Amino acid sequence: MLEEYLDPDYLPEVLPHREGEVSAVFEMVSPLVRGGRPSNLFIHGGPGIGKTAVAKLVLREIQTEGVVPVYINCWYHRTEVALLSEILRQMAVPFPRKGRGVDELIAEFVERVRQEKLLVVLDEVDLLETPEVLYELSRASATLGVILISNDPFATRKFDSRAVSSLALTPLEFKSYTVEELVDILQERVNLARLDAQELAIKVAARFAFKNRSDVRYGLSLLLKAGRAAERTGDVLTAETVKHFDVGQSPKQEARQHEIEADHQKILDTLKGLKGEAFSNDLFTSYLRGGGQIAERTFRKYVRQLIDWKFITEEEVAGRGRRRKLRLSS
Ligand SMILES: Nc1ncnc2c1ncn2[C@@H]1O[C@H](COP(=O)(O)OP(=O)(O)OP(=O)(O)O)[C@@H](O)[C@H]1O
Ligand SMILES: [Mg+2]
Repeated sequence: MLEEYLDPDYLPEVLPHREGEVSAVFEMVSPLVRGGRPSNLFIHGGPGIGKTAVAKLVLREIQTEGVVPVYINCWYHRTEVALLSEILRQMAVPFPRKGRGVDELIAEFVERVRQEKLLVVLDEVDLLETPEVLYELSRASATLGVILISNDPFATRKFDSRAVSSLALTPLEFKSYTVEELVDILQERVNLARLDAQELAIKVAARFAFKNRSDVRYGLSLLLKAGRAAERTGDVLTAETVKHFDVGQSPKQEARQHEIEADHQKILDTLKGLKGEAFSNDLFTSYLRGGGQIAERTFRKYVRQLIDWKFITEEEVAGRGRRRKLRLSS
């Protein structure tokens, strides 16, 4: 119970203190239901304040009205090819992603999208490495709604201005929660988890969360750690126990750390598959062939980091131009 309901990925049926946002967002995209043109939105605000949760709830609701829901976190799908393939996948269109060119993918996408009513949420959109794809989305169909989400209120400035103007985004700022709001939110989750907790314990967790940019995740993580300890000893969760636990790093950052490492690991595995040495561009080609997702720019950055961390050594090889040979460190 604890692990499920205090997990930051758990999506509650109701979101206390975000009811207004849920209905505002739903209202803006609801013309889709009747086959009309929706308003596109740009949601921004701090970490852990319900942006993703609200968007997912709206997707869940609009799906029951015959709109195809697509949720994409750009952390996992950063390039045009990755993004369009993922949209087609979520639309349940069988489409082999390997070996297809962007043009072919766009053509397939446009054709499929015209036949559907679609709401696409692009979460953490600032991580998109090929924002040109927004232009394709903006032109694809009159019955395609787009919701962009970011922590950065200026995220759209980095995008192609044609795409931004053709999306005609309505900005919607999510304000941080107050301590009292955090108490209600955490209390609700504690109830769901059937965690036996003192009122003061929740208040303390809410105050800690508030101090950490009012990030609900922080409060949840604190309650999870303290809750586990209380359950182990069969005690009610007290404020003292909560105070005893420290979340440390931001819970989201911590989770991401592992994933960054997974990306790095994939690069190392690819190099291993090439008998431990390869030219940088050959390594990238091979990485993509193995299903790698990150764009070349990020790939180069990660390789640079792996060199800095001494997992890989690099050697300049004279010849046509300067080429870099990469080797696994022994
Ligand atoms: N009003 C609320 N009621 C219940 N749970 C909430 C509420 N707001 C946020 N949460 C919970 O807090 C956690 C973090 O929320 P969410 O993932 O929506 O944050 P976010 O605003 O998208 O943050 P980030 O920008 O870091 O991605 C989730 O578990 C979510 O269910
Ligand atoms: Mg989010």
